[in-house]
Amino acid sequence: MFLITYVFILCLITVFVMYEAIVISGTPGTGKTSVAKQLSQRLGWTYVSLTEVATNEGFIKAEDKERGTLIIDEELLRKYLRELIKSRKKLVVDSHYGEIIYDDLVKKIFVLRLNPRILLKRLRSRNYPNHKIKENLEAELVGTCTYNALSLHPGKVCEIDTTGKKVVEVVQEILDVLNLRVECRVWVDWLSAKIPEDVLKLVLR
Ligand SMILES: Nc1ncnc2c1ncn2[C@@H]1O[C@H](COP(=O)(O)OP(=O)(O)O)[C@@H](O)[C@H]1O
Ligand SMILES: [Mg+2]
Repeated sequence: MFLITYVFILCLITVFVMYEAIVISGTPGTGKTSVAKQLSQRLGWTYVSLTEVATNEGFIKAEDKERGTLIIDEELLRKYLRELIKSRKKLVVDSHYGEIIYDDLVKKIFVLRLNPRILLKRLRSRNYPNHKIKENLEAELVGTCTYNALSLHPGKVCEIDTTGKKVVEVVQEILDVLNLRVECRVWVDWLSAKIPEDVLKLVLR
């Protein structure tokens, strides 16, 4: 009897003090940082940018100068996040490679999608070099972030089309999915629609 009560209390503690992370993924420029910061405020959860953590904690293995990207020691980052989540309990993780987190810590992974035409404008206004714009546009067109998220966290991935929505509206949609008022779906398909000329020109370069 004592053992059953003990196990029951342990289960209750596990359910109520569950460590978890909501991941905000998406191609660079889709609004991850803006959305993740506001979402963390609404939920009262801790905001974490994986690139900031990797840089501050020295988890950068190398730099791919040609692609202009950092090569991160994913294993070290994963372990660090497990420890961080044990102390902070609830995290909103901002990263286009946020799917690297251990699956048992992930509550949901939201992939922000943005019409490639708008994304092109945003990346241009950020003064990204052309090869970087091309790489990111291709990734958005084919849904690379969704594919990566699905391969590591099947059943936990929800796409949010952010096109024409304010940050506050995107955050509200995420909250609605979390509160089961809106369905979690993977549905965005830019390839079936006519791809705008300016996007096509850059991608086919
Ligand atoms: N929903 C939105 N509507 C309009 N502009 C946005 C929206 N979300 C982000 N932005 C703007 O787009 C740019 C990229 O946003 P950011 O949050 O840095 O994206 P990411 O972290 O995915 O690279 C910023 O200038 C930001 O102010
Ligand atoms: Mg960002």
